[in-house]
Amino acid sequence: MNALRIDNPVCSYNEWDPLEEVIVGSIEGVTVPALSHEMKAFVRREYWDFYRERAGQPYPVEMVKKAAAALDNLEHVLQDQGVIVRRPGPVRLGSEPFRTPHFEAPGFFNADVRDVLLVVGDEIIEAPMSQRCRYFEHGRYRALVQDYWRRGARWSAAPKATMSDALYDWDYPEADMAWFRGESGVPDTVGPLVGRFITTEAEPCFDAADFTRFGRDILAQRSQVTNELGIQWVERHLAPHYRVHRVKFRDPGPVHMDATWVPVGKGRVLSCPDRPCLSPEVLEMFKRGGWEVLSPPRGIADVEFHMSSRWLSMNVLMLDEERVLVEATEAPTIQFFREIGLKPVLVDFKDHYVFGGGLHCATCDVRRRGTLESYF
Ligand code: ALA
Repeated sequence: MNALRIDNPVCSYNEWDPLEEVIVGSIEGVTVPALSHEMKAFVRREYWDFYRERAGQPYPVEMVKKAAAALDNLEHVLQDQGVIVRRPGPVRLGSEPFRTPHFEAPGFFNADVRDVLLVVGDEIIEAPMSQRCRYFEHGRYRALVQDYWRRGARWSAAPKATMSDALYDWDYPEADMAWFRGESGVPDTVGPLVGRFITTEAEPCFDAADFTRFGRDILAQRSQVTNELGIQWVERHLAPHYRVHRVKFRDPGPVHMDATWVPVGKGRVLSCPDRPCLSPEVLEMFKRGGWEVLSPPRGIADVEFHMSSRWLSMNVLMLDEERVLVEATEAPTIQFFREIGLKPVLVDFKDHYVFGGGLHCATCDVRRRGTLESYF
């Protein structure tokens, strides 16, 4: 378990070892999802009418074209930096209307592969997800995952959530959804801050992006899309080689950790100033391990954000401990990285933000050169 599996096509233990191969998502075929109950905790309120009116239709052509170009930019910059890039094929599965025994959905399909696949060591775990429109999203990556598996990777699919009505808190107050994303002035009485989430504990569910890998230690966040049972599934699945630590942030609408608590190398982590860590034992663990907790500047990209915070500016992808992939218009963030001694590698990616994902969301690192270590 400790040795680097040089001959394995999949091997990644943390977020900063030298990146050799990565999956970059695709946006082709994206469909406007329905504004279902659980999606109200995800889609910004100012766009609810857009989603109500257009559910099941394609997004405006120009919007998709520009986001696709941003993903292509990302692919090319990664290749220029010597990283092998794999893209999912043009599978439409999940972007067209579908029906299960428990619900029907008009589809969706975004490019954020980070939410769907969790790579831990030489294993790829397909997340069960919890938003109905994303039920089949793993399908787009199956050909890639199967190829890695044929070549020696381990491949697991966490139990697929049925996403029946029991998985959602139907009495979750709409007023609390307005606070999702926690950009400022959040009262302490809101949903997740007092332990109430839009997903229940009826069955395990999680998105892969609610887990952040630090070698043997993995942080896990209970969020609007990941429940305690989902965390327990990952914890037991990875035991005894990995330790899963629950972590909470001052976030009234947590969905994914990768714009909240973002390692940028061994011993340094970015902490979103709007969403400080509320778990004393985790803070203590980082302190004991000698980690520096840094506060990055606010994002400034002047674009629409339909389903994410504006903190996609800190949703960066580390190429190694020196080079960080950053969105090209995020001048304060770029400057910040220079000041802390990192080399920013710029990507014109802002046109993808509208679909909810930054550079980390839209990628899944498949292979980083490194070994399994304890950092705490
Ligand atoms: N979903 C994360 C956020 O919105 C990346 O901040």
